[in-house]
Amino acid sequence: MTLTIQNIKRVGSDTTESVTIENGKIKGWNIEPEGETIDGKGGTLAPALIELHAHLREPGQTEKEDLHSGLAAAAAGGYGTVVCMPNTSPVIDDPALVRSLIEKAGALGLARLKPAAALTKGQKGEALAELSYLKGAGAAMFTDDGRTNENARVLRLGLEYAGSLGMVISVHAEDATLRADGVMNEGPVSEALGLPGNPAAAEAARVARDMELVAQTGARLHVQHLSTARALDIVREAKKRGLPVTCEVCPHHLDLTDEALRGFDAIYKVAPPLRTQADADYLLEGLLDGSVDCIATDHAPHTKAEKERDLLEAPSGIAYIEIAFPVMWTKFGDKLGLEKLLDLMTAAPARVMGWPEPSLEAGAPADLVVLDLYTEREVNPAEFKSKAKFTPWQGQTLRGWPLLTVVDGKVAYRRE
Ligand code: DOR
Repeated sequence: MTLTIQNIKRVGSDTTESVTIENGKIKGWNIEPEGETIDGKGGTLAPALIELHAHLREPGQTEKEDLHSGLAAAAAGGYGTVVCMPNTSPVIDDPALVRSLIEKAGALGLARLKPAAALTKGQKGEALAELSYLKGAGAAMFTDDGRTNENARVLRLGLEYAGSLGMVISVHAEDATLRADGVMNEGPVSEALGLPGNPAAAEAARVARDMELVAQTGARLHVQHLSTARALDIVREAKKRGLPVTCEVCPHHLDLTDEALRGFDAIYKVAPPLRTQADADYLLEGLLDGSVDCIATDHAPHTKAEKERDLLEAPSGIAYIEIAFPVMWTKFGDKLGLEKLLDLMTAAPARVMGWPEPSLEAGAPADLVVLDLYTEREVNPAEFKSKAKFTPWQGQTLRGWPLLTVVDGKVAYRRE
């Protein structure tokens, strides 16, 4: 299959060019157009985004999201690859389930799925899952995300085993006993609202423990959705010690703070919680100085009815994979710059995983996105492909909308 995208600019260049794609690879630049031609409308061509952290809810929670809606949302957000989390029902801890998800997703022609498998059976934090078989089935990483790894010995064994398989473990780093029943960041806002708080120490203490387990085992650990300045400092120190640790931050922890909870709206309830402006500023600095490795969304859809419950009862999670790039570009593009931002959402996640870095050279895999960096559009969740048709950014005006996403040389999304 051959496809030519005309009227595009490569990231970092002002020249209008065309790219021809054949059999899933970039065939060449500015050659005689072949096959179907698509007008890139002057947009910026970049490698498709890579998401290391999304909840697609299949199997078993398909009232919230499913592979089709989640991967269509991802493609609309400019993502070519998505690592989905295993906190489903049943939990993704079975090699046959990993295989069937990959197969099912492959037939959809949307973003490519790379399932994360559970580190422990049933994500119970007790016995390790069959890591070697899960790797053989195509699991991208191991994580008990959604749950915290309370048993340090089990995580240590997991690190030793996963390390010997050359696999990454990612952790939801919160001490569950310290977090207790906190529904938002513990601080002046939670006190003013009379809501149970989740202290920054719950994250920092857990990250500190986990850094010691990395030191003990020498195995690769990725810390998910860092939300506090203190936890980032602990990761920084670990990196200075030469430990093989990486970390991600999510756009919601950069752009939103605990002040958002003043309206008691559970749309802002997320784990770890929205923190203070000082934390958000500190995390942004971490992106700039390289101590934060990459950006991930933690796209976590729930039903509207669930998120309309009161703060104490509603589940945690913010869903926004299809606007993550526009949010980052609009809010932080001036500070990060386009090339750095794109690196954090494409090559950087690939480096975290040890995957080949995406490239725009002839011969590279054709996972591509065309971004309209300038046109402002209002966020209208009714248009979302995700089943979660609500988001904290609804009604805001953003730039940086994907026009076209190509995955494996085929069109996975095209803005009408
Ligand atoms: O807010 C969250 N929602 N954090 C998690 O770790 C899990 C996620 C979910 O599955 O809804």
